[in-house]
Amino acid sequence: MEAAGAATPPQPPATHPVVAPLAFLLGKWRGEGEGSFPTISSFRYGEELLFSHHPSKPVISYTQKTWKAASGEPMHAESGYWRPRPDGTLEVVISQSTGLAEVQKGSYDAEKKTVTLQSELVGNASKVKQITRAFQVADGELSYVVQMATITTSLQPHLKALLKKI
Ligand code: HEM
Repeated sequence: MEAAGAATPPQPPATHPVVAPLAFLLGKWRGEGEGSFPTISSFRYGEELLFSHHPSKPVISYTQKTWKAASGEPMHAESGYWRPRPDGTLEVVISQSTGLAEVQKGSYDAEKKTVTLQSELVGNASKVKQITRAFQVADGELSYVVQMATITTSLQPHLKALLKKI
């Protein structure tokens, strides 16, 4: 039995304070999406997203993988780091399996559980000029829209998906 008055050892926080407003993203999500663009045939895909972090670091690690909905064959994959700041802004770096590299900047709303990002840099891309990403968690489901602009086509949706926490 603990001696009366003994100090409880300090517990480390479960989430780094800078990451805490984005806790609604943390965990593993799985679902389905639809891809489209004026220059391609639309397609359906399965997707898994993992947002993980360590309480000692002010950063979220991000990995994504996708597969063809019909056959399960792997499609696009990407990974990176989400770096929130206490003022509600964040920067995200992403490397894609196609070789494309992104630096995204934007903001989050902890109450609405939304994140909006716009590319500041799109590197090593032959066609892509700009990428925007918008995420929302509502009723326990994560949805997002990814838009892109290319050398031939103005900014419009390429990907929309809905995922559940697993
Ligand atoms: C086509 C970029 C994510 C599947 C394309 C094209 C570009 C592109 C530039 C060609 C468009 C054109 O020729 O006008 C991107 C970027 C992504 C992304 C920047 C992420 C930000 C994904 C993901 C998937 C995917 C996650 C799969 C789940 C496809 C497919 C095509 C395509 C199937 C059509 C290919 C073809 O018809 O040859 N994408 N993509 N893309 N993308 Fe993405």
